[in-house]
Amino acid sequence: MDERTQREIERRRTFAIISHPDAGKTTLTEKLLLYGGAIQSAGSVKGKQSDKHAVSDWMELEKQRGISVTSSVMQFSYSGYCINILDTPGHQDFSEDTYRTLMAADSAVMVIDAAKGIEPQTRKLFHVCAKRGIPIFTFINKLDREARDPFDLLDELEREFGIGTYPMNWPISCGVIFKGVFDRRARCIHTFDNFHGGRNRLSTIECDITDTAKLDELIGENLRAELVEQIELLDGASFDFDMDAIAHGKLSPVFFGSALNNFGVEDFLESFLQMTTAPLSRKTDTGETVDPFDDGFSAFVFKIQANMNKAHRDRIAFLRICSGKFNRGEEYYHMQGGKPIKLAQPQQMMAEEREGISEAFAGDIIGVFDPGIFSIGDTVCAKSRKVRFSGVPTFAPEHFAMIEQIDAMKRKQFAKGMNQIAQEGAIQIFFEPDAGMERVVVGVIGMLQYDVLKFRMKSEYGVDYLHRDLPYQFIQRIVKSDKDTARLDLASDTKRILDVHGNEYLVFTGRWSVQWALDHNEGLVLEDFDRM
Ligand code: G4P
Repeated sequence: MDERTQREIERRRTFAIISHPDAGKTTLTEKLLLYGGAIQSAGSVKGKQSDKHAVSDWMELEKQRGISVTSSVMQFSYSGYCINILDTPGHQDFSEDTYRTLMAADSAVMVIDAAKGIEPQTRKLFHVCAKRGIPIFTFINKLDREARDPFDLLDELEREFGIGTYPMNWPISCGVIFKGVFDRRARCIHTFDNFHGGRNRLSTIECDITDTAKLDELIGENLRAELVEQIELLDGASFDFDMDAIAHGKLSPVFFGSALNNFGVEDFLESFLQMTTAPLSRKTDTGETVDPFDDGFSAFVFKIQANMNKAHRDRIAFLRICSGKFNRGEEYYHMQGGKPIKLAQPQQMMAEEREGISEAFAGDIIGVFDPGIFSIGDTVCAKSRKVRFSGVPTFAPEHFAMIEQIDAMKRKQFAKGMNQIAQEGAIQIFFEPDAGMERVVVGVIGMLQYDVLKFRMKSEYGVDYLHRDLPYQFIQRIVKSDKDTARLDLASDTKRILDVHGNEYLVFTGRWSVQWALDHNEGLVLEDFDRM
């Protein structure tokens, strides 16, 4: 590998920001982009406005905007690093894509609202990151508002997520009397200046907790006493700083701040960049490790985005580069297709636009034109070194619906549309035993996918269908059964379904019926749907 490629890979930092809606993900992303000079003013991160649109608006919007608007990754440089922030759509368009995006990240930043603590969407996203064992950093946001006790918040993270926490800084009160944070490693105070709304650079005052007089002057006697007690407690009783534990996602460095006021953001960015990882190696399906510094190019598809605009039926496949360097125009090999391939119209998403590119490096994400040949998880690699990555996991659908075709004359279009949209990974399709293709069970993670499906089936395939919500919420795979699975003794709210490969599943309306099935069928073995 030439020196330049090596240097480029070393300086890549690719991470996802995860949070529950409204915790401040967009605001934090924006501030990071401002530091990187990638945008000129706040309010220009696109996800924000579109996130807030109602469903019908969103459809209209997608149609007008075409593919380009939903940026998938934002690249910028800061302090010698080349940073790729992966966008994890939240709000109504929360879907399997949100989870899959995490497969392309090397670390994650979890934004938490200090008044709320862990919320449902954070929990789900955290678990996906935790399964991969990637480093997870925590930004506890909105300290300028009334917040929960910081010890309480840390305790919740440790208890619920089973990780250690290491507060890098510590808040001095919150809300209207928020004074700033104590930096535990530099032993200094960054004061919060509400008046300037964070527009000025922070003032940093060197001042350890032993400098009583200085502290009294800065934050008053009461807050000083409280701070000293808290820091002593942390220094004595909390987890030790341990880079190895951070690298394996066992210990999460925690930062307190206020993204809106730009308070603590730059410090966070600098510490984060020092602690997070350069591109990680990846495993192939034979268990081999592909190092990012391996010479041969390799990448996998983690997301496919179809154009909602009828006039442009093209799709974009997003690839995470795992090793080497990508060169525009070079012929690569598509493992699943078993064919050489040239990746057409390669592009990278910048904050505000997409740009054609001629090269990219391990750690980067590129979008390429997909004439309909890619599936989620596919590998593209150098012809000289063929590898196949172990694939992108599928995640358990959380909603199920029966979709039934109305017009028998359109049977072919119905099947084609359903299969193609499932191949893109927007929905998962299942069949009832013995039923044909005219009736399918569609599983999704976000309900919005049903609207997308209806819209696309009509506009792209000219097909209308009947949609009936099903009450199921859990899905388990049948691993083993002593009886013929058609004869399983099941509760009335349990259904047996099959996927396109013929694997069998049971869907349930509640956890209790999972137990019911196990109790009434000796030898039945079920497993969770999620496979990572
Ligand atoms: P999200 O992407 O995680 O959904 O959150 P987003 O950044 O959109 O922030 C949600 C709301 O919280 C926004 O207010 C935003 O201004 C506010 N916010 C973010 N960080 C902070 C902070 O540090 N302190 C305070 N006080 N508020 C913060 P909004 O009223 O919903 O939107 P907007 O009208 O301000 O755009």
